[in-house]
Amino acid sequence: MTSHVPLSRAAFPADFTFGVATASYQIEGAIAADGRVPSIWDTFSATPGAVVGGDTGEIACDHYHRYPADVTLMRDLGVDAYRFSLAWPRILPVAGGAPNPSGIAFYDRVLDELLAAGITPWATLYHWDLPQEIEDAGGWPVRDTAYRFAEYAAVAADALGDRISHWITLNEPWVAAFLGYAAGVHAPGRTDHAAAMRAAHHLMLGHGLAMQVLRERVPQGSHGITLNLTPIEAQGGRDIHAEAVRRVDGMANRIFLDPILRGTYPADVVADTAHVLDQSHVHDGDLELISAPIDFLGINYYFPTVVATGVYPGSAAVGMGAHNRPRTAMGWEVDAEAMTRMLTRVRDDYGDVPIYITENGSAWDDVVSADGGVHDAQRLAYLQDHLAACLDARAAGVDLRGYFAWSLLDNFEWAEGYAKRFGIVHVDYATQERTVKASGRWYADFLTGDER
Ligand code: FCB
Repeated sequence: MTSHVPLSRAAFPADFTFGVATASYQIEGAIAADGRVPSIWDTFSATPGAVVGGDTGEIACDHYHRYPADVTLMRDLGVDAYRFSLAWPRILPVAGGAPNPSGIAFYDRVLDELLAAGITPWATLYHWDLPQEIEDAGGWPVRDTAYRFAEYAAVAADALGDRISHWITLNEPWVAAFLGYAAGVHAPGRTDHAAAMRAAHHLMLGHGLAMQVLRERVPQGSHGITLNLTPIEAQGGRDIHAEAVRRVDGMANRIFLDPILRGTYPADVVADTAHVLDQSHVHDGDLELISAPIDFLGINYYFPTVVATGVYPGSAAVGMGAHNRPRTAMGWEVDAEAMTRMLTRVRDDYGDVPIYITENGSAWDDVVSADGGVHDAQRLAYLQDHLAACLDARAAGVDLRGYFAWSLLDNFEWAEGYAKRFGIVHVDYATQERTVKASGRWYADFLTGDER
């Protein structure tokens, strides 16, 4: 335990939001149902060698058909809120075309169930399932994609804004831009650094345009963006790695925090990347749009990042290090205190902005025991320690207002396919049977005040 404050729901303010999170492509399946068109993840996962085991989102958790039972599961867990994402390829299949009523009707049904169960819906507009047609027209490296995204945002807001009050424009633009367009390990699998930098900016522009849309069409709502932030540590805490820390922090965190919360790109990041591209893709007025006030900042936190001396993205790469902390099945180091440090850093450097942890969780090699249960002690400890870290951040004065566990269900973990399980509920993919794991049972007890 990291916290000095006893861990109970009563230690949080009464209006602190506790939820669970998922994303459309990771759980829905039904990829060809009711007018949905292919996304970049359909294409990527069909590419030999791209995803572990050749897994795809074709069926996933079959949530498209099983959503009533999944909402009942959430009601039984006792969560206040459910963060999910809307699939652009269901809602607006053709850029500039007509909205797809049968795609929208799926979300109508989900919302009916959620509202009847007393669960507040939080919708993410973009959790990486870009319509393939838009990638074919250039994807995020092309400026037009930001405007196409705003068009889709308007359709979604008009159709669902009467029932969805909390909107998140983008999930983790860092991953979409850099894993998708530079590292090539996520869809669309491109390896072009300049394209990735342009993608990052156009994602930011899309966020700014979508915020404008949401302000106009859902004026009573609460709107923000979700970033994956990671505290950057020098290997061994040694000063000789300070330059590596600066560079990686710039490319991982400040490249998004600065434009959104300060209205500028960090000068050092612009200088570091000048050999890759100039700034001609940043047009007058873009940064004003991008830095328009947000109602909250969503943060996904999983692990701290350790770096060693070197330069990035210049001639010699920064070395990635480790600090001998326990690691999850993803190989991610576990450190709940690093989450508290990251939260206080955002407050110290960027001022007071309401913050929600919109994702936090861990993958482990779960085993279904002979008694039928999943006794996921490590995930449970991770959950408890990170909830305690939320209390520590609040005690340090961070305006942290909520926490969403990733994930409700085991699901399609992108390039890792179904091999990595993050759920607090186990999914048997052969039968689609759901089993609440020990971590999920503890979360339910915590939420109802019965935790031990
Ligand atoms: C985040 C993603 C989420 C999930 C977790 C493990 O980067 O937003 O979809 O894959 O990682």
